[in-house]
Amino acid sequence: MLIRTPKSSQIKEHQVTDEHIYQNRRQILKSMGFLGASALMASPHARAVNWFGEDEATTFKTTALTFSQPQIYHSDEILTPEQKIISHNNFYEFGSSKSDPVANSQSFKVEPWSLRIDGLVEKPVTLGYDDLYKHFDLEERIYRLRCVEAWSMVVPWIGFSLADLIKKANPLSKAKYVVFETLYDPDQMPGQRNRFSGGGIDYPYIEGLRLDEAMHPLTLMSVGLYGKTLPPQNGAPIRLVVPWKYGFKSIKSVVRIRLTDKMPATTWNQLAANEYGFYANVNPKVDHPRWTQASERRITSGGLFTRNRIDTQMFNGYPEVASMYTDMDLRKYY
Ligand code: MTE
Repeated sequence: MLIRTPKSSQIKEHQVTDEHIYQNRRQILKSMGFLGASALMASPHARAVNWFGEDEATTFKTTALTFSQPQIYHSDEILTPEQKIISHNNFYEFGSSKSDPVANSQSFKVEPWSLRIDGLVEKPVTLGYDDLYKHFDLEERIYRLRCVEAWSMVVPWIGFSLADLIKKANPLSKAKYVVFETLYDPDQMPGQRNRFSGGGIDYPYIEGLRLDEAMHPLTLMSVGLYGKTLPPQNGAPIRLVVPWKYGFKSIKSVVRIRLTDKMPATTWNQLAANEYGFYANVNPKVDHPRWTQASERRITSGGLFTRNRIDTQMFNGYPEVASMYTDMDLRKYY
């Protein structure tokens, strides 16, 4: 798999980060014919650094994963540095500012874990913690994540197709939608203890997809990033990633996936339906009521004030999903 590595002459000192080492390591592995051999190269997650350049303690233990790197999920975009991905998060269960999740989640317990797939299925399935890594072909997929707040990242996720998981449960023909639910555990998640600390959300956090969206090959259940299992602030041990939709659809720390025949009520849509639609497809032509969605700030290795504004692409640059929406007015179904 080809990962673009900047020429050394283009690299400024502040850009020599763990993700640069990661990219180089992968180039070396590739040239040696060791695709998917990342378990040999175990390394801890990068230091998390907040916007003021201060260290955040990341004491949660992650493990190196073994995975393949299919060419179709390659991207030649520069990856967002690992330290930014793990320290600039939205995870309201751990607080509503971007630096809260890394600060408040390091003692989060992911083992034992239970993920149940039920509802309109022939064969409900329950997966334990080890099953998340053992029963699926793990792949690395480089996806853009475009947040509704108009920033974006390029992340080397590791995971498997949600379709592979849903198929295990044999969906009934009546099933039309899929509902996802995050863990509800106020003892561990301070944002769930009261409305003020958790962004006004009525927990548990709920998201939903139409069944065809859930079965689309791009839709990923992620269990890792940058070669290792997910840290809690990014949704350990398992989260959804739907790369053509705004980031709030990509629900974290999932404990239940339920198939249903009705469009579900979802967290952000219930909180402010005029701002957050059920579909939430990235669409530069439909603005958020309070700001434009025509462009975004790409989070790269520069500081907070680095100019890196880019045009937002329809469906976040994944045109292969357009056929699912051909008969829909995307201004109405935003
Ligand atoms: N999932 C849960 N359970 N709680 C949340 O607050 N925030 C969402 C999404 N998933 C959120 C969540 C939003 S708004 C975004 S942009 C992405 O997670 C951010 O993912 P990241 O922190 O891994 O970049």
